[in-house]
Amino acid sequence: MNALPPTRKKSLAALASTMPEGTLLTTDEDMERYCRDWSGDHFGTPLAVARPESTAEVSSLLRYCHENGIAVVPQGGLTGLVGAAVAAPGGNELVVSLERMNKIRSISPIDFAMIVEAGCILEDAKRAAEVSDCILPITFGAQGSCRIGGNVATNAGGFNVLRYGMTRDLVLGLEVVLSDGRIWNGLKILRKDNRGYDLKQMFIGSEGTLGIITAASLKLFPKPTQVETALVGLRSVEDAMALYAKARRECSDLLTAFELILRVGIDIALKARPDFIDPLTEPYPVYVLIEASAGGRIDLAAVLQDFLQDAGDLIQDGVLATSRAQADRLWLLRETLVESQGNGGRYLRTDVSVPISKLADFVTDTLEALGKQYPEVLAVTYGHVGDGNLHLNVIPPKGSSPDTMEILFHQTEKIIFDVVDRYGGSISAEHGIGRVKQQAYLDRVDEVTLDIASRLKDAFDPGHILSNGRILRPAALSGDR
Ligand code: FAD
Ligand code: LAC
Ligand code: ZN
Repeated sequence: MNALPPTRKKSLAALASTMPEGTLLTTDEDMERYCRDWSGDHFGTPLAVARPESTAEVSSLLRYCHENGIAVVPQGGLTGLVGAAVAAPGGNELVVSLERMNKIRSISPIDFAMIVEAGCILEDAKRAAEVSDCILPITFGAQGSCRIGGNVATNAGGFNVLRYGMTRDLVLGLEVVLSDGRIWNGLKILRKDNRGYDLKQMFIGSEGTLGIITAASLKLFPKPTQVETALVGLRSVEDAMALYAKARRECSDLLTAFELILRVGIDIALKARPDFIDPLTEPYPVYVLIEASAGGRIDLAAVLQDFLQDAGDLIQDGVLATSRAQADRLWLLRETLVESQGNGGRYLRTDVSVPISKLADFVTDTLEALGKQYPEVLAVTYGHVGDGNLHLNVIPPKGSSPDTMEILFHQTEKIIFDVVDRYGGSISAEHGIGRVKQQAYLDRVDEVTLDIASRLKDAFDPGHILSNGRILRPAALSGDR
């Protein structure tokens, strides 16, 4: 920090004076944990880190930044996977961490709604909902670290989308501080409200580029009294998708998760955790983790048992968990695969989607194209196939140099995205665009969409101080000059 030019030093001192003491961190040591994301692939160089405790503090901070052309990036739990939440290089961007705004403001089981501050850790919000015999159904591996504001800003998906929808489907209202410091209070818990434009939708999935979310009002659901979890082994992705079609009809709306894992993923989890045993009697090319849940007077175990028996021509082998602990162990396989796939090193992550009807062909074509051109890489395939969403990741050969890896990631991503394009899919089904997918997004986005998106950015953030250079190309800011 000693090397800061006098103008920056002055602006930091002025910034600090807009907030209560201790709210602004400026030393390298204090800022360290705000500089690196979960993946370890992205590092930031913040101007400083602000940790406001209230919406009013975020408001006065942004008013100051707006008036003085200071770039800002909101930060949640740093589990986003597209490099959007760490500060840009150059030391000009102020990180605004919402971590101290972590209160549950209210829970109303009658309205099936809760109002939560943006810095609340997802798992804490889920636990609070359960105390009221409800669930907040956003569910995925990072739930112990990610924060509600980050979930809303990325429109997070996860395991239960096929039953409850993406985060967007669960947001009833938002409180947002606009780039000029004004507070937009859209914190409603109404189920139906057609008064004019639905402004909250603009902020959901906007990756911090249009405003800082300070609180969200979220839909809750009755807590299921029965949950059944099964892992089945299959011959092919085609069979997995046939099983999915059958499950949608025969398990009706009770299906809450349908996660595909190709054998490579199981091998990765078993290697990372020698205490795990192969979940079925022998290895199969494809696995599906199925979960169904229900309340009321339904015999869910019978529904699932009947369904699995009836699907005997597709299912090679399977296990239906007989306890919550056994079900948790099955889910832990899925989690372990995600955490250990890179073996501590870098790898290419994708989160693509194609129409559900095309998913099996998409996997065949993509793996074939990758295998032909890059037989030396390990392709790891798993995902939320009930939503047509796959993570098709590429692990480079051991000992690859950083330059070789960079080229490999670029080329293999191109191969995957070319097939996605052919199938009319999306290059980002879950994780967003951020900085990592920006070029691929801009290469594909049509002119009209880009024009509308740019006008929205100008309308919400005329000074382009918010998350400049994420999703859309960066604009020059006074602080950069
Ligand atoms: P951060 O990483 O801190 O930020 C993410 C983005 O949101 C950035 O652009 C940031 O600027 C912006 N942002 C953060 N807070 C605010 C705010 N208050 N106002 C405005 N903008 C804000 N995603 C899925 O969709 N489905 C999954 O199944 C899934 N699984 C995952 C599993 C693991 C192990 C990991 C590491 C990640 C996973 N993710 C998944 C990625 C997902 O995007 C995040 O986990 C989560 O939604 C991000 O929340 P966060 O608080 O960590 O946000
Ligand atoms: C998952 C994340 C990576 O599905 O999206 O585990
Ligand atoms: Zn995912």
